Amino acid sequence: MTGTQWVPLALARDIAPGTSAGTMVEDAEIVVWRDTDGRAHAWEDRCPHRGMKLSFGFVRGDHIACLYHGWEFDEGGICRKIPAHPDLEVPGSICAARYGCTETGGMIWAALPLGTDPIEVPALPDAVPVRSITLEAGLITVADMLLNEENAVIEGALATLDCAHGPLAIGVQPIRPGTVALHITTRPGASAETLLAICDWAETLRRAAEKEIAA
Ligand code: FES
Repeated sequence: MTGTQWVPLALARDIAPGTSAGTMVEDAEIVVWRDTDGRAHAWEDRCPHRGMKLSFGFVRGDHIACLYHGWEFDEGGICRKIPAHPDLEVPGSICAARYGCTETGGMIWAALPLGTDPIEVPALPDAVPVRSITLEAGLITVADMLLNEENAVIEGALATLDCAHGPLAIGVQPIRPGTVALHITTRPGASAETLLAICDWAETLRRAAEKEIAA
């Protein structure tokens, strides 16, 4: 990845308020979490105390708490509570590393790499989430297969195309070399049958990509 880029981390509906999940982009470990007011956050998945994954912890209101020693961080990433020292005024220098984060087109996106200046936030039309799939295949292989579909275009980490079941907007997440996640959305109003047919299409794509790698 060169320069700053928005990368999808999850379908928005898959991160419920008050929950967190661990994911990766090009081997960088990221926790994506949603506070109880519904705001999404993407941080380095590493507690600044002793490095425990924050995705193993708990969301408490607009804080996320580490599983190991319970340190709590506010939505700005600043440590606000150290349970072992309840009377300590926590130094403001103790903070978790945050990515720029936004929610658009039915997905949660992070600005990578860590610490880069915010760039223009993508504004995608409303979309209906279909499903996320993980493919054990390289990014170029997956991109080539997506580009085989009708009217396919890939801009940054977003692929748009027409499959046999309607138009799709797909967030492409490079997890690590040889592993890619696709976050698949379609237009509002799609029927339940159409959503199932798109799931089948995605499964066929996954099998074909993995078969090509195995060949
Ligand atoms: S490792 Fe997170 S609080 Fe200690």
